Amino acid sequence: EQEKKFRMREAHRIVTELYHEVLIQTEAGDAGRIYLENRGIREGAMREFRLGYAPDQDRFTVDSLARRGFDLDEMVEAGLISIGRDGDYRDRFNGRVVFPISDRDGTIVGFSGRSIDGRDPKYVNTAETPLFNKSELLFGFAQARGAMRKIKQVVLVEGNLDVVRVAQAGIPYTVASLGTALTPVHAQNLARIVDEVIICYDGDKAGRAATLKALQLLEAVAVDCSVIRLPDGEDPDSFIGNQGEETFLHWIEQERVSSLEFKSFYFRQGKNLRLEGERVRYIETMLEEIGRTSNPLLRDIYLGKLSEEFKLSKDSLIAQVRPTVQQPKREQIVSDRPAALPTAPPDRT
Ligand code: CTP
Ligand code: MN
Ligand code: MN
Ligand code: MN
Ligand code: MN
Repeated sequence: EQEKKFRMREAHRIVTELYHEVLIQTEAGDAGRIYLENRGIREGAMREFRLGYAPDQDRFTVDSLARRGFDLDEMVEAGLISIGRDGDYRDRFNGRVVFPISDRDGTIVGFSGRSIDGRDPKYVNTAETPLFNKSELLFGFAQARGAMRKIKQVVLVEGNLDVVRVAQAGIPYTVASLGTALTPVHAQNLARIVDEVIICYDGDKAGRAATLKALQLLEAVAVDCSVIRLPDGEDPDSFIGNQGEETFLHWIEQERVSSLEFKSFYFRQGKNLRLEGERVRYIETMLEEIGRTSNPLLRDIYLGKLSEEFKLSKDSLIAQVRPTVQQPKREQIVSDRPAALPTAPPDRT
């Protein structure tokens, strides 16, 4: 079993380098390179993230792996190739720009392939395999790790292309969960390394709902969060394309709002606060959220805002804040972990 995983890792390394070489150095990679260039990705970032292009052939990867003596059924299990309707081995990512996904040590364990000609589905991703556990992996983690440790912050985005584009704009501490919602494991892994998570999801309904979920998970592991609310319809990649890198950097610095500010925006969406019932529900929800907030200053600020906006006495609001569920400090979470985990620094697991 260990040897099988070893072979699977080796196959991923080889295939990554093949796709990368095709993209950077061959005519067969022109379509992929032109696609990425048109999307504003420069060669430096293609190299850093080991981006690639899988030639639009049924058996490019199959033959490359077979020639090197890999067992093809094992390669199917690794998610590198698949079995077609005719029962023959065939390529999985053909005709797609390929984003290699590595584990925290930088070992490549899967791929995300984006179509470049409008073909469906838009993305083909590695499914669960012995190496690839989507709920634990973050795209860009290996590249971001050093900077995250140093700066103690991470920018969390939705998509692979967002990561590359934001890193290219000068924020190397950027990661994305792989087309799924953030999981408790992701939250734990980030909390061990950084002091603050800056959530910058897409400016659409799905992105806003995902932001709320991510905030709840991150707050459960006692990590500070802030949110960038992108304009409607924009994601980090399109925002940089439309407004430029400088403006995006400015937004990251200047337009960050607290978790409570985001929730206040989120919970009043689509509500008519002039109606008593909706107003009361909104105030109750905010009081609950304020009760969950561990920062006493922020609690005070938002109680003040509620009291002012709705002409309620601050004392009566304070009386209604549910007793805070005491959040453990991050140090305690770390020290509560099995003794096998390191004493210091906690992120070196
Ligand atoms: N995703 C996926 N399958 C899809 C759509 C999305 O796996 N059919 C994942 C991808 O990892 C994608 C992320 O979810 O990067 C965010 O989705 P979305 O915002 O729709 O895609 P973008 O990253 O914006 O991709 P693009 O800009 O290339 O359209
Ligand atoms: Mn740490
Ligand atoms: Mn999206
Ligand atoms: Mn998007
Ligand atoms: Mn996008």
